[in-house]
Amino acid sequence: MKKSIIIVLIAVMAAAPVMASENGPIGIITAMSNELSLLLENADISRTETIGGVDYNIGTLQGKDVVLAKAGVGKILAAAGAATLINEFDVSSIIFTGIAGGVGEKTEVMDIVVSTDLVVHDYGNMTNDGFVWGKVAGSDENGRIPADAGLADLAYEAAVAVVGKDSAFKGNIATGDQFVASENYVWTLQDSFNSLACEMEGASVGLVAYQYGVPFVVIRCMSDKADGLAHESYEGFGDQAADNSASIVMEMLGNM
Ligand code: ADE
Repeated sequence: MKKSIIIVLIAVMAAAPVMASENGPIGIITAMSNELSLLLENADISRTETIGGVDYNIGTLQGKDVVLAKAGVGKILAAAGAATLINEFDVSSIIFTGIAGGVGEKTEVMDIVVSTDLVVHDYGNMTNDGFVWGKVAGSDENGRIPADAGLADLAYEAAVAVVGKDSAFKGNIATGDQFVASENYVWTLQDSFNSLACEMEGASVGLVAYQYGVPFVVIRCMSDKADGLAHESYEGFGDQAADNSASIVMEMLGNM
């Protein structure tokens, strides 16, 4: 091949946007150890790479190639973990699994919420009249981050198979850098965004994946109702809820 053609090819490849690799492993990301432990126990891990203080466990789970990572709590570490899964491990899709606070009357403790879309509920302007919510940079025209519809359907079907139809929901998940333990705020989340759950990482992972064109979904099991009793409920049900969400991921992988 002529030198000039090679140079042009290299330039085109360097300028091309990163696209999701169809054959890459599935990235599975959590915030905390208890959200990853059941997956690690059931996976066949061949090697672990530590990047930015996070262990990326490479192997198979339910016969699928996976990279399992506990990125840490909150939006910043979640975004860093998602970017690493995409840039270093060329993942074909990302599944976030973990626990959340239930929002509104429908979702009870131990119910499952699968994301159709997410919002960042604490992004906006602080004015003399208080906080005014705004659309997070990179989101769609409504300030939402759409999850992949196919993955959401698969996750919901898996949730129905594991916990039953009455305990499985699909809808909006609200993300912010706060543990919500307030009846007033939980109503605000329901009224403003029609959210079913609130947590601290989903939209962050979702937004990075959305920017890169990598399909993603968030699966959450409710450890509490994000109200005045949220801390006690979280302590009592957190580990069980984390395992429930992980079980749904395994069911989902088995069906993929
Ligand atoms: N994760 C579990 N419960 C939560 C809550 N109430 N707020 C934010 N994140 C949570």
